[in-house]
Amino acid sequence: MKLRGRTAVVTGGTRGLGRDVALALAGAGATVVVAAREVADDPGDGLIALKADVTAPDSVASLMDTVHERYGGPHIVVANAGVSRPGPVASLSVEHWSEVVETNLHGVFHTVRAALPYVRAAPGGRIVTMSSLLASRVVAGAAAYCASKAAVEAFTAVTALELAADGVTVNCVAPGYIDSGMGKALIGNEALWPRLAPSLAAGRPGTGDEVAQAVLFLASPQSGYVNGQVLRVDGGVR
Ligand SMILES: NC(=O)c1ccc[n+]([C@@H]2O[C@H](COP(=O)([O-])OP(=O)(O)OC[C@H]3O[C@@H](n4cnc5c(N)ncnc54)[C@H](OP(=O)(O)O)[C@@H]3O)[C@@H](O)[C@H]2O)c1
Repeated sequence: MKLRGRTAVVTGGTRGLGRDVALALAGAGATVVVAAREVADDPGDGLIALKADVTAPDSVASLMDTVHERYGGPHIVVANAGVSRPGPVASLSVEHWSEVVETNLHGVFHTVRAALPYVRAAPGGRIVTMSSLLASRVVAGAAAYCASKAAVEAFTAVTALELAADGVTVNCVAPGYIDSGMGKALIGNEALWPRLAPSLAAGRPGTGDEVAQAVLFLASPQSGYVNGQVLRVDGGVR
């Protein structure tokens, strides 16, 4: 129970990879708040759900204040909420481009900025952002998503430098093709998956828990001297 006494916020923790991460943190003893635009009164498994929209700075600020007042901290923040709106640049709508960048990039900034006064209040704070294999290995038709995730990795590196003196680490997890959340649809896509599958050195997609265990390490006291890194959880990609 290495996270006993710690409060964690996982944005986008209501389903998919975010929920896998929330369960791993809770399993390690943390009090875990999952935040999304639509939340159940009781998200189950001992998790706590609060409504928040990461694209709205006031909404995320209010989330962090509420968490602090009710549960203490937050000491751990996982900026996980993300969306994908595929389409070639020539036909990608301005709305879809904006939605992806506002959620995946601006949302991470709003989340981290709102959490900072609490996370840096005591040494040992942990921030984990969520990138993607597609930040570094681009595919046609994913311009907005790839650009937003590459920017998240740069944002993570800069923030890590700025918070290191406070004893706070900021790291990023970059999942590959994962059989959870939005990855499920990709794996089920009969036109696309046969072209992507041969690139997987492991010969299979990853599981949500394999990603969650990487986040758990970066959220734990054991990773105290790991900072500004991107941990790629993709099983090896050719
Ligand atoms: N699954 C994969 O294979 C994979 C691979 C690489 C990277 N990733 C990354 O991992 C993260 C989680 O992905 P996932 O596959 O778990 O996606 P998912 O199943 O679609 O879940 C996305 C989560 O984000 C929340 N969300 C979306 N927009 C939000 C907003 N504006 N404010 C607050 N919450 C918002 C959603 O809840 P609401 O809609 O109710 O707000 C939901 O809880 C994303 O950053 C994604 O890019 C996933």
